[in-house]
Amino acid sequence: MENANTIVQQDLASMCRQLETELGAMGGRKLLITGGAGFLGYYLVQVVDFWNREFRPSEKIPLTVFDNLIRGLPEWLAQLEGQSAIRLIQHDISRPLPDDMDDDFGFIIHAASIASPTFYRKHPIETMDANVNGLRHLLEYLKKQQASGQYPPGGFLFYSSSEVYGDPTPDQIPTAENYNGNVSFTGPRACYDESKRYGETLCVNFARQFDLPIKIARPFNNYGPGLKISDRRVIPDFARNILGNQDIVMLSDGKPTRTFCYVADAVVGYYKILVNGGKAEAYNIGTKTPEISMAELARRMADQAKQLFGYTGRVITTTSDEKEYLVDNPNRRCPVIDKAVNEIGYCPQTDIDEGLRRSLLWYQGNPVAEEA
Ligand SMILES: NC(=O)c1ccc[n+]([C@@H]2O[C@H](COP(=O)([O-])OP(=O)(O)OC[C@H]3O[C@@H](n4cnc5c(N)ncnc54)[C@H](O)[C@@H]3O)[C@@H](O)[C@H]2O)c1
Repeated sequence: MENANTIVQQDLASMCRQLETELGAMGGRKLLITGGAGFLGYYLVQVVDFWNREFRPSEKIPLTVFDNLIRGLPEWLAQLEGQSAIRLIQHDISRPLPDDMDDDFGFIIHAASIASPTFYRKHPIETMDANVNGLRHLLEYLKKQQASGQYPPGGFLFYSSSEVYGDPTPDQIPTAENYNGNVSFTGPRACYDESKRYGETLCVNFARQFDLPIKIARPFNNYGPGLKISDRRVIPDFARNILGNQDIVMLSDGKPTRTFCYVADAVVGYYKILVNGGKAEAYNIGTKTPEISMAELARRMADQAKQLFGYTGRVITTTSDEKEYLVDNPNRRCPVIDKAVNEIGYCPQTDIDEGLRRSLLWYQGNPVAEEA
């Protein structure tokens, strides 16, 4: 019988198989993940732990997580820490790096930021600081490493976002990496979008000027295990309604569209960028199809929930209490992923209905989340 735990174990095993070459190449070199306590951290961290235990115990990847735990310390990370080659350090990346930080990280993933629109609108300055000042601290570290020649950096991944494209003009959908975007720089989402854009500018200039292996990911709407039910993004919101046996509440007219990418597929893509990506190159990571409206998403989740739990709720529409919930919300978002497919072997595999089914089973086992 499948449950939250078996779903996670299956995903981790499948991800390790897809990443044999990349994780193999990282063996024995230290990895630092900032923001590892967050949604993407859930699989970014656990896949390394799984690899170390089940695939390559003889050549582990020692992993350090920096996180300021602004959104709480998740139980899964508290449990892992100390039991494996994983170290958690509570550190705010917008502050100078700790004096006693190891000088031999071979790989760094900078995922610390506040990704949920509800929360970044609440903490706009902290969001910009993590994406700009936090990034700068890490880039200076990399530059020093390169200059000393003792531990030349193996790879650095900056998490940008599909939000760098803003609300693309219709002729730019689906959206490729060479689109420059249509972004408000003063609206309520600008703290996020613009700091990701400046972050990318910092990355490409450090990469070019100091010959550093810096790569950029632009995630498009990842979802699945690890995305806390309290996160206020749309899929956990609908899951909360379903598990509470209430109607699914849509906070828009249901028309905006997205393509959703199951997190296990996306995390495979991120490690492929880290190891195989080109210097100063950015890659869209998402799925091209199906592009579905929020109304269609609600219907598909209700269908899956009916089969799994006999759910019989309806879909209702209302407006958010949050005044700026829909301001500058892109109407459509859909990536061109050819660059990642052709250049680094990215290959998303999980069909949306299967991904929603897996997510609902995960939420069934994780119906509450600690929240700061
Ligand atoms: N999940 C997606 O679909 C998506 C889409 C686009 C971009 N991204 C980007 O990917 C990265 C990870 O996203 P996520 O969904 O896991 O986000 P998340 O909000 O779930 O987790 C981010 C983590 O960063 C930590 N953090 C925030 N500010 C920090 C700071 N100053 N110092 C140290 N830690 C800090 C938080 O405590 C949290 O654990 C982010 O940079 C995000 O902007 C994600």
